Amino acid sequence: MALDPNREDFVIGVIGTGAMGRGIMQVAAQGGMRVVAYDEKAGAAESAVQEIRRALKGLVEKGRLENDEADAAVARITIAEGIPQVAAAADVIIEAIIERLDVKQNLFETLDDLTKEDCILASNTSSLPITAIAARCRRPERVAGMHFFNPVPLMKLVEVVPGLKTSPWVTEALTVIARRMTRVPVVCKDSPGFIVNHIGRAYVPEAARIVAEGIAEPADVDRIMTEAVGMRMGPFTLLDLIGADVSVSVMESLWNQFYCEPMYAPHPILKARVSGGLYGRKTGAGWYAYEDGKRVEPPRPELPTARPSSVWVSPRHPGESAKAIALLQRLGATIEDGDRPSPNALCIVTPTSGDCASEIVQQELDPKRTVALDTSFNFEKHRTVMVPPGIDPAVRDAAHGLFGSDGAGVSVINDSPGFVAPRIVAHIINIGCQIAQQKIASPADIDLGAKLGLSYPFGPLEWGDQLGASWALEILEELESFYNEPRYRPSPWLKRRAWLNLPLATPDGRG
Ligand code: NAI
Repeated sequence: MALDPNREDFVIGVIGTGAMGRGIMQVAAQGGMRVVAYDEKAGAAESAVQEIRRALKGLVEKGRLENDEADAAVARITIAEGIPQVAAAADVIIEAIIERLDVKQNLFETLDDLTKEDCILASNTSSLPITAIAARCRRPERVAGMHFFNPVPLMKLVEVVPGLKTSPWVTEALTVIARRMTRVPVVCKDSPGFIVNHIGRAYVPEAARIVAEGIAEPADVDRIMTEAVGMRMGPFTLLDLIGADVSVSVMESLWNQFYCEPMYAPHPILKARVSGGLYGRKTGAGWYAYEDGKRVEPPRPELPTARPSSVWVSPRHPGESAKAIALLQRLGATIEDGDRPSPNALCIVTPTSGDCASEIVQQELDPKRTVALDTSFNFEKHRTVMVPPGIDPAVRDAAHGLFGSDGAGVSVINDSPGFVAPRIVAHIINIGCQIAQQKIASPADIDLGAKLGLSYPFGPLEWGDQLGASWALEILEELESFYNEPRYRPSPWLKRRAWLNLPLATPDGRG
């Protein structure tokens, strides 16, 4: 390795001291490294240091940092007069300036001329190719991506991204430096969205399709994904937080960079909201309404008082029907045990393989009195009840009343291959598998990226193993054949491991 990233007197240069640069300065200084920072805007670097001082003081007040450690961290930061001063002092320069390729290329070309030969030049870009940023450098082998997340001090993940010409020692050194900053590095190829923004193509766009198709209301999708699946934030809450303007432009950019790959396609209902200024929290109106900056919670639908006289559970999926029966027993329902339902029974089916309720009903049940219950996720707090067209509204309400009778939330949704949660989660698993298949990152780094970068409860590959690779494969195959769309085609990585009953982290035969 040309440069020793463990050296005591290691110096990090930061250029651009806005939201990201400031956070990078803070974690580098807290990690014991000296920092030399520059911003072209007069006073910007000084205010960044003030902000860092304030943030560290906050940590001291919370008892998370000693006062002298906070003082020492701030003392390690120097503000540079200009780029030559950063270039002269730094062992690694991390750029966090405006997201424009031409501006970044100019800066890297300048740094290439001014810095010592083994100084690493890193970009914090979220969306520009590292190889392109390095294109005008004499020594592109020392240029790489070092992608932090916002807010940097709270988000532990760093994506280390070698460009096509980056030397391996550069990638290795950046992972060491990331660890010195108490970050968790993952390594990924120079590919659109790197790991985290690539995985993120599943969640919000698939939720938007579900709403666009009239399957469920946005608030229902949010409740299902948080209360049953365990996501930290529902997709529509997330959209409102980030802002539809920002989200849609990221979606469109990635989709275009992948040459209109249908798996990543955004949905027009999102674009329409951008045109209408319904950005979310920042405009006071999005998928939710906001008053004085606070979200107005949509009322939960009132629980119907009706209950079915008896219920009959289809034995078609034995494991799933057993889960449904156990729940119904707890709810005090009268459960029929005949081979066929009695004439007035509420019929319950429990599809797990992406079948629509209608598809099962057509085989031998009465669509007027059959509902499907999603048993794939935790249904203690929230239950999804899916109804086919033609359902008798009184039966639908009785089913709703029964499933909500212990206080759990209930979302009554229209028919969908894979309800709401299974189809979104299968899509997440599939995109994780695509990332593995393209060798963009290792399975372990893909999972870490999703957990630390997106706060998912599990990484896509480990989630696939928990739910079963065959479970995800069946849902995707059903979605693909139902909609006749390549959007849902299962990744070769998923198919092979499901066929062979192997964990999704299993490498390909030749590695
Ligand atoms: P920002 O607008 O808060 O800060 C950018 C700073 O760079 C400003 O202070 C500006 O004066 C300075 N600047 C611009 N051009 C410069 C130049 N040629 N030389 C020196 N200083 C210059 O932007 P933010 O959000 O900190 O983003 C910076 C970079 O980090 C962008 O590439 C962005 O894509 C990336 N990024 C942003 C994330 C975010 O959530 N904000 C997350 C991860 C990456």
